[in-house]
Amino acid sequence: MRSKMMFETPLRIIALAAFAGFALGAQAKDIAAGKAKAEAVCAACHGKDGVTTIDPSYPRLAGQHADYLLVALMEYKSGARKNAIMASQATGLSKADMENLAAYYASLKGPMSNKR
Ligand code: HEC
Repeated sequence: MRSKMMFETPLRIIALAAFAGFALGAQAKDIAAGKAKAEAVCAACHGKDGVTTIDPSYPRLAGQHADYLLVALMEYKSGARKNAIMASQATGLSKADMENLAAYYASLKGPMSNKR
C-alpha cells in the first residue's frame, strides 16, 4: 500500500505542475503592450476608451470577451471574416499582438462588461 502511494504522489505533482503551467500560460497576456498598440492604432476608430467610436456603426470593444475579440482578429487576418478596413488592420498583427489587444479591450469597462 505504501509503495503504491509513493509511486502515485510524484505523478500527481507532475500533473498539478503541468496544470498550473497551463493556467499561468492562459493568463500571461501582456495588457500593457495591448494598451500601447491599441492607443497608437485602434483608438483612431474604436475610441481611446473602446466605447466612443468615431462612427456609430463601428463596434465597441471595451468589455467584450477576450476570446471573441481574439477570434474576430484572427478571422479578419485569415479572411474568414470579411471587412476591408479590419483586414488591413489585422494583417500586420502577430498572434501575440492579437492576444494582448484582446486582453486589453476585455479588461476595459464598457456597456458589455459583466456586472460583477
Ligand atoms: C480605420 C478604422 C479602424 C481601425 C484603425 C481599427 N478598426 Fe477594428 N473595426 C473597424 C470597423 C469598421 C469594424 C467593423 C467591421 C465589421 O463589420 O466586421 C471593426 C471591427 C473590429 C472588431 C470586431 C468587433 C466585433 O464586435 O465583432 C475587432 C475585434 C476590432 N475591430 C479590433 C481592432 C483592433 C485591435 C484594432 C487595432 C489594431 C482596430 N480594430 C483598428 C474599424 C477600425
